[in-house]
Amino acid sequence: MKSDSDITNKLQEKYESIDQDLDVHLEGLLHSKPISYWDYIQTDVLLNLQKPRTDFPDEMVFIMYHQISELLFKMILSEIEQVAENDFGVTVFTEKVMRVSRYFDVLTSSFSIMKDGMNIEQYNQFRTTLTPASGFQSAQYRLVEFGSTELINLIDKRFRDTVSKDICCESAFEQLYWQAAGKDYETGKKTYTLSAFEERYKEQFIRFSKKYEGKNLWSKYKELPEDSRANKALIKAMRHYDYTVNVKWVMAHYTTANHYLNIGGETAEATGGSEWVKYMHPKYQKRIFFPDLWTTKEKEDWGIDI
Ligand code: HEM
Repeated sequence: MKSDSDITNKLQEKYESIDQDLDVHLEGLLHSKPISYWDYIQTDVLLNLQKPRTDFPDEMVFIMYHQISELLFKMILSEIEQVAENDFGVTVFTEKVMRVSRYFDVLTSSFSIMKDGMNIEQYNQFRTTLTPASGFQSAQYRLVEFGSTELINLIDKRFRDTVSKDICCESAFEQLYWQAAGKDYETGKKTYTLSAFEERYKEQFIRFSKKYEGKNLWSKYKELPEDSRANKALIKAMRHYDYTVNVKWVMAHYTTANHYLNIGGETAEATGGSEWVKYMHPKYQKRIFFPDLWTTKEKEDWGIDI
């Protein structure tokens, strides 16, 4: 425990260094209110962020679970940023990947809140008021992808083998896998859902992808010394993350879409207007963040039989 004079001296130094009078600050401390849970966590703001567009009670479940997902995406991005901005050794690198993995595990296991937690009839009524908005327009989900791997691994499977491995930023943009959900490939015409998304975020995406092209999780892993790259715990954590995001979460999402939008064998149109049955299944997109960590067979079987 530090002595009183120790702390007073440090405070004196701190305020002198910014030309401030310590006594005035001490008086301010005397008058200030103690911090409370509700001020710190901002509960009033948080609990006022839900604005349903209908009176169906289950719309609240839908809004809040999306908000929970966005908060977890933000937690993931914070870990990814720390890896990008530092040169962590294998122990901390592994810890960071495990944190990211755990957040995505939570997102995957909790997806049952969506699948089993809403009344199908209510969902199919309130969702009509949400057209043309779609989870497809989650910008943070795209940032997590740009922050996790190189752009080549996010290119539409149909073009991945023919585009240059060094493709970057603006030229890569039109060929990203998710363009397929919002574009008619014969006419090239984009849906409103995609155009509005790009108008709002395209510049940010290009800036972010330029910044992360050399320091996303995959690039940072490849820069590690050979013995670190061979570390079993790190490889396990990277593979776990890759599989959770690109197969397990995608499947939980796809199964949920089927639950609500495939009624009596008839496929309903999604709010974002994509050909979702094909688009959403991992076996078609074969998105893999860390391709060298999987065998050829594992890659061929990606998303099949799950
Ligand atoms: C009942 C629940 C849900 C259904 C039925 C559903 C359905 C869909 C469909 C059909 C698409 C394809 C695009 C379109 O045409 O709209 C899509 C895309 C997407 N949704 Fe959902 N979704 C649900 C919940 C969620 C949640 C909770 C999130 C979390 C943020 C989310 C995030 C996304 C993302 C990121 C995409 C783009 C995926 C990609 O490009 O592969 N969705 N969703």
